[in-house]
Amino acid sequence: MTLDATATATATFPTPPARMPIALIGAGAIGRMHAERCLTHPAVQLVALADPTEAGQAYARSIGVAAFADHRALLDAAGALGLAAVIVATPNATHRPVGLDCIARGLPVLMEKPVAGSLDDGAALCDAADAAGVPLLVAHHRRHNPISQRARALIAEGAIGRPVVANVLATWMKPAPYFDLAWRREPGGGPVLINLIHDIDQLRWLLGPRAGEVVSVQAATSSAQRGFEVEDSAAVILRFEQGALATLLTSDAAVSPWNWDLAAGEAAHYPQQAIDSAHLAGSEGALTLPRLNLWRYDGAAGWHEPLTLRHTALHRRDPYVEQLTHLRAVAEGREAPVCPGRDALRSLEVALAVHTAAARGEPVSLAG
Ligand SMILES: NC(=O)c1ccc[n+]([C@@H]2O[C@H](COP(=O)([O-])OP(=O)(O)OC[C@H]3O[C@@H](n4cnc5c(N)ncnc54)[C@H](O)[C@@H]3O)[C@@H](O)[C@H]2O)c1
Repeated sequence: MTLDATATATATFPTPPARMPIALIGAGAIGRMHAERCLTHPAVQLVALADPTEAGQAYARSIGVAAFADHRALLDAAGALGLAAVIVATPNATHRPVGLDCIARGLPVLMEKPVAGSLDDGAALCDAADAAGVPLLVAHHRRHNPISQRARALIAEGAIGRPVVANVLATWMKPAPYFDLAWRREPGGGPVLINLIHDIDQLRWLLGPRAGEVVSVQAATSSAQRGFEVEDSAAVILRFEQGALATLLTSDAAVSPWNWDLAAGEAAHYPQQAIDSAHLAGSEGALTLPRLNLWRYDGAAGWHEPLTLRHTALHRRDPYVEQLTHLRAVAEGREAPVCPGRDALRSLEVALAVHTAAARGEPVSLAG
């Protein structure tokens, strides 16, 4: 008996669904991470990239996508390219003008974090997106990590009871060449707005359903280690609406494994460490992340009683890949944004309040 290989293949493997054409604006560090994931993503296809630098355009050509020097020229070609959504991965100060241009053309936007460089800019983006009915998603990618999602579900179903206290560490040593770029030595380029905003967003997202919003921020910052204009370290206290308190420490000038990037293993260029970077404690239990150790009393509660440790093991999934899958689902109206612009705006407000509180030396109140 002979087999018709072509017929067999056709019968066995159905035609894969078409990949949704998307564009990328900004081919820097994080832009290229998105581009790499698009190359093998089953649901989205990168078809165009805009970056004013020759290096950015050369990169676009090297991965076989249309290269543009100006994002407006790319957007003018949206119809011909069949674009269904855009990723914006440009410097913070450009998020507003670039994002508004995308929204004006009715294109759903996955905006890199923070949503914008200022609260005014962020509000303008959210207002424009709402008025146009265009989805604005912000790339707080940790919300797409199965570890975060499991932790949020555990907390929502009462595993730790009412949140009481939390501690988050975001401390590492950034290498000296990182600071060759001037903006990383200036206000806004430090660990609070670059890194800690991810932890702030994650904590809000995890605790929010049980603890309410962050309503007060206290902080101290220091630039004593590197001596730059921007902070290299910060100590922060957050108060949540229902009374929970959280302390967050960040430093990019301290030797330390205690941070989400090294602990969670989201990106291969961070050597993973078997540690936790967040400890959450409530009226009924305590939970660590990213290892998802849950501590509870099986019987009577009290510090002399035995605690039971339960551990959740998860299959690992790349949150950046998951975020792209979500972008397509939102663009097609099948899902609501996991991190909508206004939610990310609140994380930006809390992060900016860290600087205000540190400068004033007193707590900053935020509306509940
Ligand atoms: N989600 C994350 O984990 C993560 C990590 C790093 C950076 N970010 C965010 O991503 C954004 C970019 O950060 P980065 O570290 O990649 O910066 P970067 O400086 O490495 O890259 C920015 C790129 O944007 C290009 N650019 C500037 N203006 C442009 C414009 N008008 N149109 C098109 N391209 C333009 C630059 O030429 C550069 O290639 C920032 O908002 C940052 O906060 C997020």
